[in-house]
Amino acid sequence: MRQAGRWHGRLAIAAGVLSLCGAGAPTLAQSLGDTSSVGPSTARSTTGEQTYRDICQACHMAHAEGGVGAGRVPALAGDPHLSDPDFVLARVLHGQGGMPAFADMLSAEQIAGVTNYVRTHFGNAYTGTITAGDVRRRSTDAASD
Ligand code: HEC
Repeated sequence: MRQAGRWHGRLAIAAGVLSLCGAGAPTLAQSLGDTSSVGPSTARSTTGEQTYRDICQACHMAHAEGGVGAGRVPALAGDPHLSDPDFVLARVLHGQGGMPAFADMLSAEQIAGVTNYVRTHFGNAYTGTITAGDVRRRSTDAASD
């Protein structure tokens, strides 16, 4: 949970920076729309691609090439582990090491969407579409991890 906490902290900082801008320049705040939606909006993304851009890209990078920074983030591009949808679901739901758990941060629909997205983009072309129902079943099955 330490890692997930750090991630929450980063979102809070981003929201804080935006609200500072808003205080000094109301017209900028207006043009940005409702800045109070900055944090939670990441949790309302609707497509798998949007969820990837909003959340996963920060660590796994724009083309899912991964990277080495504070820790090593594996590439998802051309990742043979992604052939198993359960493997991807388990990581996204429960995390591992530097990978945060998203079970409480994303809806079942968002988790299904982003799982399907990474399995069919970045050079991956794996079959087997995950549904929100699959995610709900899998998330109540934590003991098998
Ligand atoms: C805070 C950084 C961070 C974020 C955000 C993040 N990941 Fe990760 N991810 C990692 C790290 C680090 C690992 C390696 C974990 C390990 O095995 O120790 C990882 C591993 C994975 C793996 C396993 C890859 C493999 O072959 O072992 C998958 C799949 C994955 N992430 C998908 C996602 C998806 C989908 C999202 C967005 C919902 C996401 N990640 C968001 C850091 C992150």
